[in-house]
Amino acid sequence: MNGLRRQTSRQLHEEHVHVLGLLDKLGAAAARQGAAAPAPAPGDETWGPLLGQLAGALQHEVTRHFDLEEQRLFPLLREHGHGDLAELLHEEHQVIREVARPLLEQLGGARAGTLDAAGWKPLRLLILELVDRLGAHARMEEDALVPVVDEILDEDTDMEIWNAHMN
Ligand SMILES: [Fe+2]
Ligand SMILES: [Fe+2]
Repeated sequence: MNGLRRQTSRQLHEEHVHVLGLLDKLGAAAARQGAAAPAPAPGDETWGPLLGQLAGALQHEVTRHFDLEEQRLFPLLREHGHGDLAELLHEEHQVIREVARPLLEQLGGARAGTLDAAGWKPLRLLILELVDRLGAHARMEEDALVPVVDEILDEDTDMEIWNAHMN
């Protein structure tokens, strides 16, 4: 997305692009694996790195990103007459957290190689659900949130958010 004026909106955009890239890889790998396939081995060259990146994203990047949106950006939306959008996006965060929580727990077993086929099946479904829900959410925010944030952020607030949250 070109032409964004503010550091906060540019960073938000970059983080969306980054997570969408990871979700694409996860979705493709889960589709190739198939519902009946056994759990990937611990050293699996596709799943090993992907599951590590997913665990890191859920523990750190996604959590921090959601917190920033909820604490700083959604209040700004409400102040500027976009309260409905703020509510919708916040509800989606809560649904995504409900998927991320069990997913993160089950990822521990997968990465330690203690997962059997019976454990892999629900984990794979949770991964697909995250790909759907977080993917749709990030794409909606690219269309509806990033341009609005860019529009309503003044330079001082942008700088203040950047200093407090982004570096
Ligand atoms: Fe969000
Ligand atoms: Fe976002």
